[in-house]
Amino acid sequence: MPDKARRHLSELDLTGRSFLTIHDFQPAEIVSLLDLADALKDVQKRRVEHRFLEGRAVAMIFMKTSTRTRMSFEVGIVQLGAQPLFLNANDIQLRVGETIKDTANVMSRYVDCIMIRTFAQQDVEDLAEHGQIPVINGLTDAHHPCQGMADAMTIREHVGKLQGTKLVYIGDGNNVAHSLAEVGAKTGMQVVICTPDDYKPDAEIIARAREDAKETGASIELTSDVAAVEGADVIYTDTFTSMGQEAEHDVRLAAMRDYQVNMALVERAGPQVKVMHCLPAHWGEEITEEVLYSPHSVVFDQAENRLHAQKAIMAAVIA
Ligand code: CP
Ligand code: NVA
Repeated sequence: MPDKARRHLSELDLTGRSFLTIHDFQPAEIVSLLDLADALKDVQKRRVEHRFLEGRAVAMIFMKTSTRTRMSFEVGIVQLGAQPLFLNANDIQLRVGETIKDTANVMSRYVDCIMIRTFAQQDVEDLAEHGQIPVINGLTDAHHPCQGMADAMTIREHVGKLQGTKLVYIGDGNNVAHSLAEVGAKTGMQVVICTPDDYKPDAEIIARAREDAKETGASIELTSDVAAVEGADVIYTDTFTSMGQEAEHDVRLAAMRDYQVNMALVERAGPQVKVMHCLPAHWGEEITEEVLYSPHSVVFDQAENRLHAQKAIMAAVIA
């Protein structure tokens, strides 16, 4: 039996909670979720059954495209013994005018949890407020908390610790940067977000993360100087043009040209540095193919860890 995973799960008291941002959780809860994710990864690797959600159902609403989030949730739900329902934007009434409130009330009668990927963070908050089941944020314009959890799990694996780890996020101050700042604040990391002045992360989210950082000894620094990568344990980047910003592609590429993660930048960080990217990557824009496939890169372990981290979140909020 998957005893260690079950013990970690029984120690967590998150049943019924929605997972909308990392900020909403206490540092100890974040660490416990990461411990559960590690234990779930171990049982999955050993092919030990862990059907903690037998007989349950999880709906997955996608108002934006996805490869990793869709696959890792769907596979993870089945591994936990539950039924996944993939609801594509084009197929559901939400897209053509049914309200969030009605959708939340109806879905609460059929399933035990909703994962949603959409545009406005407020829509995710409204879904959670009006429904009677936990909601998991699978990415909004403002946050990507499941990604942040998988990233922290990956950093623990490859750097060995989170406390004091220097993570330099470089490029666009977007949803992924926000969730990294939040998870870094909760786990004692030294987070540096390096962007052009016009592409800084949201001031309110950063202020909130800095408040959280006081509790853990973390730091959240903003800069526009790529020299920040020197001595980094981790360099992290994401697309310069997020979903919904396609019309700004050329302007963004020009503005962030000097923020590309290429071999010269990696060498500037030092031989210890690990490179991360949430994917999908755009070769020749925010990162080069050479870096993505270099020994510094941990991006495919990072992508795998989406599965384990999200299983931990689902098990904790549903079980
Ligand atoms: N990283 C991530 O969320 O990937 P997808 O957009 O493919 O789900
Ligand atoms: N910042 C990107 C992340 C994709 C996983 C986006 O929002 O499109």
